[in-house]
Amino acid sequence: MQPLRVGVIGAGTVGREVVRAFLERSPRLAPADGRPLVLTGVAEKFTERAIAHGIPAELLTDAPAHLIASGECDVIVETMGGDEPAHTLVAAALGAGLAVVTANKHIVAHHGPELEALARGTDSTLRFEAAVGGGIPLLGPIAQDLAGDRIARVRGILNGTTNYMLTAMARDGRDYADVLREAQAKGYAEADPTADVEGLDAVNKLVILARLAFGVWIPPDAVSNCPGSTSGRPGAPGITGVTAADVAALAAEGRAVRLIATTRLAEDGAIEASVVPTAVPAGSAFGRCDGVLNRVEVDAEPVGRVAFEGPGAGGAAAGAAVLSDLVSIARGLGSTWAGAVRAEASSAGVVVRPVAGECVAAPSGACYPVGD
Ligand SMILES: NC(=O)c1ccc[n+]([C@@H]2O[C@H](COP(=O)([O-])OP(=O)(O)OC[C@H]3O[C@@H](n4cnc5c(N)ncnc54)[C@H](OP(=O)(O)O)[C@@H]3O)[C@@H](O)[C@H]2O)c1
Repeated sequence: MQPLRVGVIGAGTVGREVVRAFLERSPRLAPADGRPLVLTGVAEKFTERAIAHGIPAELLTDAPAHLIASGECDVIVETMGGDEPAHTLVAAALGAGLAVVTANKHIVAHHGPELEALARGTDSTLRFEAAVGGGIPLLGPIAQDLAGDRIARVRGILNGTTNYMLTAMARDGRDYADVLREAQAKGYAEADPTADVEGLDAVNKLVILARLAFGVWIPPDAVSNCPGSTSGRPGAPGITGVTAADVAALAAEGRAVRLIATTRLAEDGAIEASVVPTAVPAGSAFGRCDGVLNRVEVDAEPVGRVAFEGPGAGGAAAGAAVLSDLVSIARGLGSTWAGAVRAEASSAGVVVRPVAGECVAAPSGACYPVGD
């Protein structure tokens, strides 16, 4: 069989793991029922740094657009992250009929309708398993294995940084600023932690889950990331307003605070979507999901509730998800949305509102939804 030629753009934490699998000639990259995968190029901003990480000079270029246009790749792996130039490069690859695997939740959530239309228009493949839940096989099961079910709700702990921080606050009685400094020192939080602590990273992941569960792309800025408050005004975004006193008061009632992302299909056809600190029973599966782990629960008919838990971040975990997407492409399995109907057109005019439900007031004045 003709090999499938792969180009990687962005060889950082995740991309390096993908390149390493090729250099170590992983047998997983030659599926028994598909085309063998071969690495033909790697684009990285500073090629010297990539060489220092063991990537052979003859594979390297500092020009990702040239790699895409070279005619030497059938598949592009985008692991550079951020909005531009990643968005334009992925769009160019899909427009040229190349298959794309991306770990970039931002571009999938913010440019999903355009990228889906491009992929469908050129009959190319777009896969993004690593974009949600890191190494947890999550999007494939939702799109393929639950295709015979009607999904009613998807909710989960989708961000390891904030889960690490909330776990540390509860365990040690420490305040937000203190555990944020520790998370940054340990490499769990970035120097600019905004996307994690304000819930924006989880919002992007929730948008992708809603696409696969409900067949529509919802705009990320329509997802509520602020809890309510006793004053009636929105509380601080994400976990930025959670205090040590809030965590202690809820713990005294047998509850744990977790940043839960929830999307639900309402009876009137609206999509409910929120990413807010939530008071869950301490002994529940979410309450026991500690540290940097992710956990997602899907409620569907007729199957009932299915759950996924595991490493939501890290180069090895996310790299594994990228590799599994590559193997799926080599086996001819198509895009992550599998047999689901096109979502670009049906997304216009969809009503998105916060998830409704019971809340509990905390000492800071925030009102946290009550989870089960
Ligand atoms: N890390 C994780 O645990 C994880 C998990 C799941 C998904 N993801 C997603 O995977 C993507 C990559 O994350 P990462 O953690 O691997 O990031 P990273 O370590 O910063 O790697 C990105 C690499 O791409 C390079 N790059 C950026 N712009 C470039 C350009 N224009 N041309 C060539 N190279 C360029 C960067 O170089 P410079 O450093 O010089 O800018 C860096 O080496 C992101 O979308 C992220 O959200 C990450």
